[in-house]
Amino acid sequence: MPADNPRITVAPSLLAADWTRLADECRRALDAGADWLHLDVMDGHFVDNISFGPAFVKHVRGAVPDGTFLDVHLMIERPDHYLPRFIDAGADNITVHAEPDYDVGQTLARTREEGVGAGLAINPATPLAEAEPYFDAIDLLLVMTVVPGFGGQSFMGDETMPKVAAAAAARAGSGLGFRIEVDGGIDLETAPVAVANGADVLVAGTSLFKAEDMPGAIRAMRG
Ligand code: DX5
Ligand code: ZN
Repeated sequence: MPADNPRITVAPSLLAADWTRLADECRRALDAGADWLHLDVMDGHFVDNISFGPAFVKHVRGAVPDGTFLDVHLMIERPDHYLPRFIDAGADNITVHAEPDYDVGQTLARTREEGVGAGLAINPATPLAEAEPYFDAIDLLLVMTVVPGFGGQSFMGDETMPKVAAAAAARAGSGLGFRIEVDGGIDLETAPVAVANGADVLVAGTSLFKAEDMPGAIRAMRG
């Protein structure tokens, strides 16, 4: 069996967890070897679904051991407006999308000023050029590998892997250290494709929470 690759961060998405046993599900993922927990916030406007808000993030913060890294992905129209509430709720990284109409640069700067990691996400249809002006202002670039809104969709490799590869090349040539995250349809078949293109943070909901052997699936994903 290949050794774990320490460069790869695995972040199970709680969207696919059993919310009637939320604390147990968080612990199950962490005991299985999850590096981060990924929390998908949806507002019913930016995406065609509604998930949860800051109170849920705060519950998770209270349910996990100190030091657990909470990666919060805001699929909402006004991330600038809601940012302080997610910071107060205990997020370690907050990822905002490039597509809505708000001051992206100022929102990223405010996030970092609060000592929280600043992430920027682009949808499959959004060119990498939309994110490039912010490369020196982010800790994480999220290249969505499905159209956001729902778990359990199929990986859109043709549309998104060229962007991951281009981001990895730009990062290598720049001396910048942002992480490159992929999210949507990540499983044991697609994770190696994303990693080969330069991704180093793997978000996976369905394939991990529904796995018969979550520790084995996380190890294989990272391997
Ligand atoms: C998609 C969310 C994802 C989602 C991934 O809108 O951002 O984080 O939960 O789910 P899977 O791994 O099931 O595609
Ligand atoms: Zn997500």
